[in-house]
Amino acid sequence: MDELSRAYAEVLDEHDPLAGFRERFVIAGDETIYLDGDSLGRLPLSTRERLHAAIDEWGTRLVGGWDDWIDLPLQAGDAIAPLIGAQAGEVLVGESTTVNLYKLAGAALDAFRHRVVAVAETEFPTDRYILEGLAAQRGVELRHDAGDVEDALLVRSLVDYRTGELAELRERPGCTTIWDVSHAVGAVEIDLGAAGAQLAVGCTYKYLNAGPGAPAFLYVAQALQGRLRSPIWGWMGQRDLFSMERSYDPEPDIRRFMAGSPTIIPLVAVEEGARITAEAGIGALRAKSLAQTELLVALHDAWLAPLGFELATPRDGTRRGSHVTLRHADGWRICRALIERAAVIPDFRRPDAIRLGVAPLYTRYVDIWDALDRLRRLVAAGEHELVDDTPARIT
Ligand SMILES: Cc1ncc(COP(=O)(O)O)c(C=O)c1O
Repeated sequence: MDELSRAYAEVLDEHDPLAGFRERFVIAGDETIYLDGDSLGRLPLSTRERLHAAIDEWGTRLVGGWDDWIDLPLQAGDAIAPLIGAQAGEVLVGESTTVNLYKLAGAALDAFRHRVVAVAETEFPTDRYILEGLAAQRGVELRHDAGDVEDALLVRSLVDYRTGELAELRERPGCTTIWDVSHAVGAVEIDLGAAGAQLAVGCTYKYLNAGPGAPAFLYVAQALQGRLRSPIWGWMGQRDLFSMERSYDPEPDIRRFMAGSPTIIPLVAVEEGARITAEAGIGALRAKSLAQTELLVALHDAWLAPLGFELATPRDGTRRGSHVTLRHADGWRICRALIERAAVIPDFRRPDAIRLGVAPLYTRYVDIWDALDRLRRLVAAGEHELVDDTPARIT
């Protein structure tokens, strides 16, 4: 059978061991193909139920609920731990990835006295801003090329948000690396423990499907926890929360990275999103994601390259995360036309990158086939030239 035919994509779906998971998500609009799970994942039905229950619990238990709620940041962290090769007690959920990066970077600079911080210019903006800001505040040197630095604090994404390239998870001797695993968690196998990784942060609203603005996580290897102190001294990180007269004396464990009151209701969604991901199994998810991005690349080569598209994602599967990025000189209008005229939802990163995200919990092989078929027809017919090319606020 022709491996680029729709019939073959249907066969792959029939034999997909994860196919049943799709039914466990809210899928609104039959015709729409959602390829933006690498930005905002879909809503799991069980999360909707658990969120309703959490709201009701607030209504009935009121302040008494805190006896249990207080442990949720750690509990949700423990649910994420097996997905990133961490141990129980090494992951804490709360705040945004941005704030967590600030906490870990500030703590590492205080503890290890690095005089240099380095972050590539291609890194996600917030990662650069946090290091740029800390460099300015503390008078340390900022570098954009970590090439030959020996004693520095580094921030590095495991999967590049723009190109989808998967980096090698390896510590650099003499340096402290904070890994940003936002585009990797739930999509690729990560073993922070085996790699000897010390610090990491990541989002939960992408492949973990925890919802818009859901709290992020931070990871601190056990051995380091007692040595690092959050630059935000808050009462929730205090050893004895209600001993209000004492001066700041942080918890001995990862809870010292808490600052203010945890956002209980969204934390429930993080725990459930991580639970479903673990149930599917990260090995099976990675295998499916690789097969699907492989199909995407093959269809690109056959149909899209002749139309002026260029692949920005590595062809080598071992160097690829779970999204595929296509560059095109008219990328913005093509992206708009896909959404407005072809009911395919990708996203766009300036200046010319169209990102197509594969979320193996709910993306089908036929979704990929149909999306690329709609894309090639649309561009071949010049339909993208009919859309308004005014830049949008959110892309
Ligand atoms: C790689 C990466 N790091 C950090 C962030 C920022 O996360 P937050 O909005 O939770 O601070 C994002 C957001 O998409 C991201 O993709």
